[in-house]
Amino acid sequence: MQLLRDVVVLALDEMRRDGARRWLRLAVSGLAGDVRPGQTVFFSEDGRHAPRCRIATVETASSDTAALVAKFEPDDLAPDAGDALTVWSNETPAVSVGSGSLVVTTRPFLYRIAPFEQCGATLLVEGDGIDLWDELRNGLTEGRDWSSVFLALEPARLQAFAAAFPGANPYIFASMDMSCGIGACRSCHVNVKDSKDGEASCRLGPWFALERVDLVRLRFASAPFI
Ligand code: FES
Repeated sequence: MQLLRDVVVLALDEMRRDGARRWLRLAVSGLAGDVRPGQTVFFSEDGRHAPRCRIATVETASSDTAALVAKFEPDDLAPDAGDALTVWSNETPAVSVGSGSLVVTTRPFLYRIAPFEQCGATLLVEGDGIDLWDELRNGLTEGRDWSSVFLALEPARLQAFAAAFPGANPYIFASMDMSCGIGACRSCHVNVKDSKDGEASCRLGPWFALERVDLVRLRFASAPFI
């Protein structure tokens, strides 16, 4: 485990709501200097029994506070200002989005991807009048290397990508529900072609080389990109 910190929630604000599902921004203290924008972290609420760990993305990080953005399902316990949280991350620095990276995603998932702009990444967001595949082809003719391309898209879109770009090997974001968050329960495992045991996305994710991943099985195992 690379990061384990006790933090305090300073404030919350609701970014978006869809029925009882909410997307919250948590301003927290206690992560100064330890995290970077776009990083995936996990958290549990101290003093409460949570059935699974929660996933958040670091939206901003300054010298004394950080903002985490996270989705809360109707049965999730949202923290309050003043609550203590344990925050951890196992994220491997072997694959990281940074300057020169191109990250492709859709509007609903942008809240987890937009922070990478602060690291120098360029974002390509699906929207009206934008054909992602055409945009990628244009980017490649400008000399972009697939190893600098990161796709945060639903598995069905990844299958369409693989058909449109045979042999291309960008990184893909495995959006998985988590339970333990430490590699012990197998709930977040990604099926890969080179290991029958798969890989724990909580320890080695969230980015995996596309050519390693069984996209058909990912389609049935992954969480929605919302
Ligand atoms: S959440 Fe348990 S192995 Fe990843």
